[in-house]
Amino acid sequence: RDVEILGVPMDLGQDRRGVDMGPSAIRYARLRGALRELGHRVTDLGNVEVPIPEVVEEDERARHLSAILEVCERVAKRAAETVSRGAFPVFLGGDHSISIGTVSGAAEAGRTGVLWVDAHADFNTPETSPSGNIHGMPLAVLTGRGHPELVSIGGEGGSVRPEDVVLLGVRSIDREERDLLLGSGVRVYTMKEIDAYGAARVVRQAISDLAHLERVHLSFDLDVIDPEIAPGVGTPVRGGLTYREAHLLMELLNEAGIVTSLDIVEVNPILDVRNGTAALAVEFAASLMGRHIISVPR
Ligand code: ARG
Ligand code: MN
Ligand code: MN
Ligand code: MN
Repeated sequence: RDVEILGVPMDLGQDRRGVDMGPSAIRYARLRGALRELGHRVTDLGNVEVPIPEVVEEDERARHLSAILEVCERVAKRAAETVSRGAFPVFLGGDHSISIGTVSGAAEAGRTGVLWVDAHADFNTPETSPSGNIHGMPLAVLTGRGHPELVSIGGEGGSVRPEDVVLLGVRSIDREERDLLLGSGVRVYTMKEIDAYGAARVVRQAISDLAHLERVHLSFDLDVIDPEIAPGVGTPVRGGLTYREAHLLMELLNEAGIVTSLDIVEVNPILDVRNGTAALAVEFAASLMGRHIISVPR
């Protein structure tokens, strides 16, 4: 496949420094080489420019709103260009607010499903958010809820339909966020389901939930992985996916062949140990893109 990498060094969606270095950390962990080894033609498009927090204005209920809005609009444009070339985009965050742009752009190619793999639901609005951090809001925005200016990036009603969205790996939701999510029609598989039924069964169910779609965007927040093995994230939550559960998820997705675009977000090398979290991200991306123990890559 033709793969295009785009970095979005965004740290305005949350309050810890360092996640803006995520694209560098993931490149340093040799993402491009890993994908080339699998036979893909990989082009790195570089980074989208993002202002630093010192020079942008604050907004209390949705912090750094106008700067994030402006970056996401540019990201959406770049994402739409990549999918219109027929290439597979890989977006490197940056915090999860970038997905307002990446998913909106990818969805310009036609009706697109979303597999949101995350410790959090990211389903807050400025009204429900306890933090005002926009990285806790992107999935709500993409399904048409929240700040109208953010929602408008995807056009009226949002970029994706809630019934085309599956959330996986969740274990931390704010109270009002939960009520909003429950009423939304988004399918949710928490860590409890993964513990009770096993990752294989839950992932297969998620794949069949999305099987009616020609395009599926995988938004992979590294904090879904257990922080004991992936400490380089800004909002760690105990009890996450194991190393093998995450690989199995990617291997089964590869087998199903449903994913058409990818985000790798929330890697924070300042909080990491020897860039291990970025290295994991590259491993998981390679599994998604066809790395097998035996047999040829698809
Ligand atoms: N729910 C919390 C909030 O809204 C945390 C969100 C974490 N999101 C993330 N993309 N890591 O502030
Ligand atoms: Mn600020
Ligand atoms: Mn997230
Ligand atoms: Mn998260």
